[in-house]
Parts: sequence; C-alpha cells; structure tokens
Amino acid sequence: MKKTLFICQQCGYTSPKWLGRCPNCGGWNTFAEEKTEKKTGNVFRTKNVFPLPITQIDTVCLPRLKTNLTELDRVLGGGIVPGSVILIGGPPGIGKSTLTLQLLSHLATQGLNVLYVSGEESAVQIKLRAERLNIENEHLFVLTENELENILEAINSLKVKAVVVDSIQTIFTSTLSSAPGSVSQVREVTGLLVQLAKKQDVTLFIVGHVTKEGAIAGPRLLEHMVDTVLYFEGERDHPYRILRAVKNRFGSTNEVGIFEMQERGLVEVRNPSELFLSERPLDAPGSVVVPILEGTRPLLIELQALVSPSFLAMPRRTSLGIDPYRVTLLVAILEKRLGLNLGGQDIFLNVAGGIKVSEPAADLGIALAITSSLFNKVVAPEWVFLGEVGLTGEVRAITQAEVRLIEAEKMGFKKCILPKGNVKHLKRLFLKAVGVNRLEEAFEIVFG
Ligand code: TYD
Ligand code: MG
Repeated sequence: MKKTLFICQQCGYTSPKWLGRCPNCGGWNTFAEEKTEKKTGNVFRTKNVFPLPITQIDTVCLPRLKTNLTELDRVLGGGIVPGSVILIGGPPGIGKSTLTLQLLSHLATQGLNVLYVSGEESAVQIKLRAERLNIENEHLFVLTENELENILEAINSLKVKAVVVDSIQTIFTSTLSSAPGSVSQVREVTGLLVQLAKKQDVTLFIVGHVTKEGAIAGPRLLEHMVDTVLYFEGERDHPYRILRAVKNRFGSTNEVGIFEMQERGLVEVRNPSELFLSERPLDAPGSVVVPILEGTRPLLIELQALVSPSFLAMPRRTSLGIDPYRVTLLVAILEKRLGLNLGGQDIFLNVAGGIKVSEPAADLGIALAITSSLFNKVVAPEWVFLGEVGLTGEVRAITQAEVRLIEAEKMGFKKCILPKGNVKHLKRLFLKAVGVNRLEEAFEIVFG
C-alpha cells in the first residue's frame, strides 16, 4: 500500500498534509513529503519462540572487545559488547570519521575482519586519511557505497566482526523513494542494519551528523533503536574533543572520554586537568580554577573574566563556554548583595580550552573571576573554588565535593573555598578546605 506522508525532518512528526509549522517541535518549514510503503505480511511468526523463566537465563559475563583506546573503552562501559549497535553523533568536522577509522584499525590489529563503509568519501580519500593515521592492515576493508542492499551483501559475504557506516544520512534503501537523509530513509536503513547486526553478531557503529542545534533527521530519531549513543563534542578551533555517552544499555552514561586532535589523529588525554591548566597565567587578575565534573570525572578548568569600562549604553556581556543567563544572574547578585557597580562595565567570560561548563558548582568561581578582574586583584594561584550561589548571596552545597577535591590535591592546589554544607560531610581533611555560608565571606578570604 503506497502512502504519501509529510514528515517533520526535525522531530519525525507525521501529518497527512503539509504544515508550515510543526505542532510537535515548533519548527518552521520542516515538513517534507515522503512516500512510504507499508508491507503487508503475516502477523503470525513463522518460527516457534519460547519465553524463558527469568531464573533460567544464563548470565555468562558478556565478553567485551577492547579497542585499546582506553578513553573509548571506558565510555563504552569497558569495551565493545559484540553484536551491539553504537551510534556516534557529532557536528561535521569534529573527527567522527577519524575516530571510527582508528577504532576499526585497533580491532583489525587483533586479527578481526572489519569493514569501513563510507557514503561520503572516495576510497582514495579514505586511504589518504589512513596513511595520515599510519593505518595499514589487511583485515581492514573499505567500501564506498550508498545503497544499503549492496552494503548488507558485503557484510554478509565478508564475515566481518565490526562495521562502521559513515554516515547514516548518506545511505539509502531502494525500497523507499524518498531522498537519502530523510526521516523515513534514515529510520528504515538503520532498522535493517540493526536487524543484520543482531542476527549475525556483528558490531555496528553508525555515524550520524548533528547540527549545532542538535536536531536533524538522524541521530536524535535513532537513539531508541540502538544500544549505545555517543556524542562527540568540542569546538572546531580547539583541539580537545569530548566523547560522551548519552545512552548505554551495557554501561553507565556518566562516562566521558577526552581526546586531542593532533596531526596524526586523535590521541587520548590521560590527564586532562594538567592539559587544561598548562597555559594558566599565575599572576593575572580574572583567572580562577574550578574543579568541575564531566560525567563522573573531575576536571580542573580555568575560568577567565575580563571586566572593563564600557562605552556602550548597553554594556556587553559575552561568555564562551558558560551559559550567558547564569552570568547575568551572577552579575545581578554581585551588584545587589555586594554593592559592586557592574552596570557600566563590559564583562567577558571564557573557559580556557573550549570546554563547556554547565554546573552550578562553578558559580562561586565565576563570581570570583569577575570580581578579580574588576578590582584588578590576582586570586592566589593555589586556590580552587566550589559552590552554587543563590539569589540572596548564599553559597549552597554542591554534589561530589570529595572527588573534586582529590583531583585538586593531585594537581598541587593547596587551598579551597567550598560551601559549609559540604565541609561537614568530608571524610578526611583535604587541602586547606575553608567552608563559607555566604558570598561575602568568600570575598573576605580571597581579597580581604
Ligand atoms: P573528520 O574525522 O573527517 O570529521 P567528521 O567525520 O566528524 O566530519 O575530521 C575532520 C578534521 O580533523 C579535519 O578538519 C582535519 C582534522 N584532522 C586532524 O587534525 N588530524 C588528523 O590526523 C586527521 C585524520 C584529521
Ligand atoms: Mg566524516
């Protein structure tokens, strides 16, 4: 039965007629016409299936394949579960093709046949990248193809253990007439690939492009179809990349892996704090160090503020890596509670290294960085700061203070200001931890 449907390319909402605005996600002009074909088939299974009592199910520990990229293995929950389907999403140019080619080559060096399918690049381009990455292995196969049926055939005939499909938006099945990259194509192609992976115990990596807003026909729609969803993030102009698990049926979603894009591919960053602090000026006003958490991992980052008199009627508030609303809020608190005059000042904030900070635990650090630059007073380099700042200027307790303090200690910091609420729960004495209840107390200690 042939049916024409209009599908929102952002969220997958379907409508029998064209709509200017999607009632589900609110996107404008996002509907595209897609012809779908319903298969009519027998609703009864042809095979006998036997449900098992849960007590009779064997829990043989799932053997995992190690990629030898420890950052990646950790994000996956300790390696790849054979037969699992892993979606790797990220903006164009971030390094998805590089990462997947590197991980396949690691599997190939273990003697496993692996296949890299590209719908975007020619075999020569892939070979050039491989040369750059110093990859040469006869177990690594390359296929440049856009039609799903041919890809399935190749997977079947090669008896491969792992396949990368780069990217899902470029692959189409000839059973649907809509264009590659459209919602119905992406869904159908993924569905068929997943079926094959499960049936043949092939590990499947699906690469998907995500735009800056994070919503396009692709990764978001596929999250429920796959076992694991990893997002590759980072600023294009910075070399650091964060691989984050947002869904994992075989592990925790709190893990992140940190990589650096170098001349010869992605290199793991074993000690990120050291890296992010390596260029820190020790005697510059406006620079403050904060131990944040990336997943379960503590990470020391440098916050920088620049406050200077403004010549504009509306002074500028610019922040990179920090939510601008959070900054506006903290500026208002500083003005009201501490009587600082920031109304006539331009305020610029930056997180060094292109990292994003979304935790409220960084509030105290942000407030101190702004004040440090305003007063032109250096914050002594042995300090780190933790604490969420409330609207009345109170410093509120934050989560997992201990892991953050251990990391700060490891990196050689000597003193820490943190919420009183956290100090009483500390199991042992870390650094020189000073508990405060209010913003004023912290300022007294640092600048007093
Ligand atoms: P790529 O993996 O092609 O990104 P994606 O598949 O996510 O679109 O990588 C893109 C960038 O990485 C490109 O601008 C070049 C850079 N790069 C390096 O810096 N070093 C390398 O060894 C490689 C292979 C790429
Ligand atoms: Mg690519």
